[in-house]
Order: sequence, then structure tokens, then C-alpha cells
Amino acid sequence: MLSRRAFLHTTGTAAGAAALAAFGNDGLQRVAAAARTVEGAAPEDVAADESYWREIQQAFTLDRTIINLNNGGCCPSPRVVHEAFKRYLDISNQAPVYHMWQILEPNIETVRRRLAAEFGCDPEEMAITRNASEALQIAQLGIDLKAGDEVVTTNQDYGRMLDTWEQRVRRDGIKLTKISFPVPPRTQDELADRLLAAITPATRVLHFCHITNLTGQIFPVKRIADEARRRGIKTVVDGAHAFAHFPYKASDLGCDYYGTSLHKWLLAPIGTGFLYVRRENIESLWPLTPAAESRKGNIRKFEEIGTHPAANHNAIAEAMSFHEGIGIERKSARLRYLRNRWANRLAQNPRIKLHTNLDPKHSCAIGCVQITGVPTGKVVGRLWERWRIIATPIGHAEYEGVRVTPNVYTTLEEVDTFAAAMEEIAAKGID
Ligand SMILES: Cc1ncc(COP(=O)(O)O)c(C=O)c1O
Repeated sequence: MLSRRAFLHTTGTAAGAAALAAFGNDGLQRVAAAARTVEGAAPEDVAADESYWREIQQAFTLDRTIINLNNGGCCPSPRVVHEAFKRYLDISNQAPVYHMWQILEPNIETVRRRLAAEFGCDPEEMAITRNASEALQIAQLGIDLKAGDEVVTTNQDYGRMLDTWEQRVRRDGIKLTKISFPVPPRTQDELADRLLAAITPATRVLHFCHITNLTGQIFPVKRIADEARRRGIKTVVDGAHAFAHFPYKASDLGCDYYGTSLHKWLLAPIGTGFLYVRRENIESLWPLTPAAESRKGNIRKFEEIGTHPAANHNAIAEAMSFHEGIGIERKSARLRYLRNRWANRLAQNPRIKLHTNLDPKHSCAIGCVQITGVPTGKVVGRLWERWRIIATPIGHAEYEGVRVTPNVYTTLEEVDTFAAAMEEIAAKGID
């Protein structure tokens, strides 16, 4: 690839600069240039290097009059990704049947290959979906189960995914068992032990999060999946918040089905996700939107969704480039650094309770915190009204708290403003 200087030289400075701006490629170049300045440094040291992260922060077009600490919902894309997304939309709109279907759509194979390399599976085991819900529902609704078969999950799994199983309870007569677990747990084994202890002779599927959306709890996926496989039970893992958040590969998980969002931590356009199906399960898994019998063993049968934009899934490629430019080790170290900055400070406050175990084995960017004696809904309302901070209220039958999720573009000042705001609310309460 041409360097910026070589590109400008070959195209003429003014024309070259205009072309670069038009292509929006400077984001990737800046990320690469910033990476050169920290080459060889430990990720934990880079995590505290504000001049490096300043470059990353500049790669986004944000509204800095608000402090967005809900990056667990969906995230803004860096400019370079959003520009690509818009460019692909423009190209599609010329003659969609040609430009979108014939030129852009086949390039989904590049996206598949790159995502599979990052996740650590064969591209033939990876379907591109529109979100984690679709990915997981393909697995949840596509596994053959008969009345009386049991699915074991937790009562802290994602609501829509639990609703999906509940629908199978009503429609197919399966049994759904939801276990409870403490927040925060002391050990990961505690989580595995509880899930595995709930298995009965009727259990066919275990469904659980790689990392929960409520408190950011990371599960010991491999231990659970290995034991389930030994007992002939399939594992559906909800990785909506895991991919491109902290480092791991498919071989570290060992599960049968894995669904994730890409509009969360990968920072891809909104409306992107993937489903991993372990090769031996592809043939027997029914697609959500039916496909021809001839596609039975082809992972692409899960992508037979009718006409859809190619821009969303093709711009995943730019998101991958941006992600690789930072590197997952540096990214996760920075996310933990930001989370620890507010969490360690608030943990000192006797009125504040953390629901997240800060041990790196247990969590990364996501934290859940409660001001005891003040309803969480009011806390979240006050954060917004007074400080323009967006955070998410978590209300679970067994606990409540404010979920806080920074991103690579979050500044220390923003995190410190949040911590100070929480201290003020804890001290003064809310009438
Ligand atoms: C744990 C979990 N699973 C699934 C989903 C659904 O993801 P999506 O909105 O991409 O379908 C979410 C979304 O927040 C989630 O947090």
C-alpha cells in the first residue's frame, strides 16, 4: 500500500490530499502512525499514553457535548468506517441490481475471511448476520428439539434471547431452566459449577453469555462447553459483547454456536453481526429464513434473508482494519484502564457498591455500579440532566445499578466527570 507521502507524490499534492479526504482513509493512516509511536511498548503502558489515545479519539466524529458511557448498546463507527459505509450506499444506488448485487455483494467473502481469521475459525463456519439477535435466534430456533427437551440458561441472559426460548416453550413444549448466580461472583468456577449442576437427563442445550450485558461478567466458556460436549449437550454462546472487546479465539471457547454483534465493540456499521456454527452442526441447523436443500451444508444458507444493503456488511472490512490498527491487546488494556479509573475511585465510597468483579479474568470495559439508597432510575436521570452523561439503568430482580461502558474514544476527563458526578449524588442524594 502507498504511504501518504508516496500517494501525494504520485498524484500531485493538492489532488492527492483531496482524494485522501474523499476516501476518508486518513483514519487508518493516523491509527498506523500512532501505533508506530508506541511500537514495542507493553499494552498496559500504552493504555496510559494519552498522546496515543488522543489520535484514536480524533478518528471519530462525535458530539462531545455529551458523555456517552453507553457503548454497550451500539457504538459510533470511526469516520473511516462510516465514510466507507456511505460510499457503498452511494455506489449501490446507481443501479442496485448491478452495482450492489454484482459488484459489492460478492465482496462479503472478504469480510467473511477476515472475520473468521480474527475469530479463529474456518470461513466456512461463519455467517454474516444483521446483529447478535439474528445470529443467536438462528441457533435457538434452528436446533431440533421436541416437547420435554430442556434448555438450561441463566436469569441474567439477554432478554430477547430468553424471550426466544420462552416462545419455544409455548410453541414446542420444551422446558426452560434459568439459574441464578451472584453478582459479582468470587470465582469463574462458581459460574460453571452452577450451570453444570443444573443439567438433567432431559438437557439438550446450554445457553449462556460469554460476557453479560448487565454487569460485564465473563463466563468460563471452555470449561462449560467441554463438559457439555462430553455429555452430548450443545452450547449456544451469546458473545454479543465479546468480539473485538478482549482477546480470545474460537479454540479458547469450544462451543457449538456463537453469535455476536459487530456494531458494538468492533465499531462496524449498525446492523452487523456474525454467527459461528461449528462445522459438524451446519447441516443439522435449520436456517431462520429457509434456503434451498442444495445449500444444506453451506454456511451461506443462514444469509438467505432476501434483498438487503451490501453497504453494512462490506464496511465491516474497514472496521476490521481500524480494529487491527489498534490491536486487541492495546484496546482491551485501554478499556480496562478507563473502567478501572472510575471503578477503583468509586469503590472507596462506602455508599457505592460495585456489581462487577474487576479481576481481568472476570471483566473488561463494562462495569455496573449502584449508589445504595438512591433508585438507579433517578441516578441515571440526574447524570443526564446535570452532566449530560449517558449511562444505562440496569434493573434485575436480584440487584440494580448503573451500567457504564466507555469506548476507545472516551477521554479521561469524561470518565472523571462521571466519577465526580456519582460521588456528588452519593453525598447529596436525590430528592
Ligand atoms: C448479551 C446480549 N445479547 C444479545 C444482544 C442483542 O444484540 P443485537 O442488538 O446486536 O441484536 C445484546 C444487545 O445489547 C446483548 O447485550
